[in-house]
Amino acid sequence: MSGWNPDWMPQPDKKFLLPLSALLDRDPFAIEHGIIAGRCAAATAKALTLEEATWHQLACAGLLHDAGKIAIEPRILRKPGKLTEEEWEVVKQHPIVGRTVARALKLNDWVVEGIQDHHERWDGQGYPGGKMKDEISLQGQILAVSELVSAVLTPRWYRPGMAPAQLLTESRRWIGTHVNPEVLRACLSALPALFGLSALSELETFRSPLDSRHFSGDLEAQVYRAANAFISQVFWEAGRLFGQTVCERTVDGLNQWAVATKLPIFFSGLKMEVTYPWWESLSHQVLNFRNIIGAIVSCLSGLVGEPLACAWMDSILMKLPENLRDVGTDFGLWIWKPVEIVPLAGVR
Ligand SMILES: [Fe+2]
Ligand SMILES: [Fe+2]
Repeated sequence: MSGWNPDWMPQPDKKFLLPLSALLDRDPFAIEHGIIAGRCAAATAKALTLEEATWHQLACAGLLHDAGKIAIEPRILRKPGKLTEEEWEVVKQHPIVGRTVARALKLNDWVVEGIQDHHERWDGQGYPGGKMKDEISLQGQILAVSELVSAVLTPRWYRPGMAPAQLLTESRRWIGTHVNPEVLRACLSALPALFGLSALSELETFRSPLDSRHFSGDLEAQVYRAANAFISQVFWEAGRLFGQTVCERTVDGLNQWAVATKLPIFFSGLKMEVTYPWWESLSHQVLNFRNIIGAIVSCLSGLVGEPLACAWMDSILMKLPENLRDVGTDFGLWIWKPVEIVPLAGVR
């Protein structure tokens, strides 16, 4: 096939949503982790010049590789410290449970085997089978690399996502122990294209924060910070998960919407830009932010479906500092959630 589009990602099949949303209840970072792993796995297969059909299969396998974690208690999944021996035994079962989930979803045997093998290690120290080198299926080797890459980039309960620049240093430790070096090389070579960049180090630039502007009161500043933290996190994740082309298309749609609704804002790349304060009062600012966030959520719902988009937005909230999350909740900014909104009447 010619003209490979690094933004390629199959439309998530609705049948995958059930185990994914069950997993999301336990781990809000699971979908981000799964989607990044799926995109890495598909890109690695392409870099290894495997058949095109395998890219699609690996994208599904990556998305669902940790579906077996639905059998692990949240208490264990969220534990920051060392696991006890019993807890570790439970965790080691998730590739086996994942195999059962994948079979129930009628995924083919090749995908099922990959999911089962995603924690096998090149040196035989992995689980559940303790397989070594070529005893591990090729799809399992690809998923093992993709899962590690995704784990580095995805935040966890007990730590933020690592800076992408750390990926190169971090991945050196896996060579010969955790992964097949050839598969790792293929994956790393595919990553810049996957993220729409010329070099891995450019990934860092996605994290730049939004500007803050002029506020007439503390509440305005807080609402602004809460909404901006949320919006920048959404764009940062959308860029990573779906690639720059999809992100740019979403931004174009939002800019057209802003023109149509006469809001003096525009989105440029992954940032929301304003040239002057574009609200007349706190209540006006809040209403505008509700509209903007509503427009963003509806764009994303068109991309991944409403239930998944809402679950994703919930997971983004979990990553915001608690005070900003609470401010947004009080002012009803998180409009995809059916919550009671503080009445705005009487506020300046
Ligand atoms: Fe896993
Ligand atoms: Fe994983």
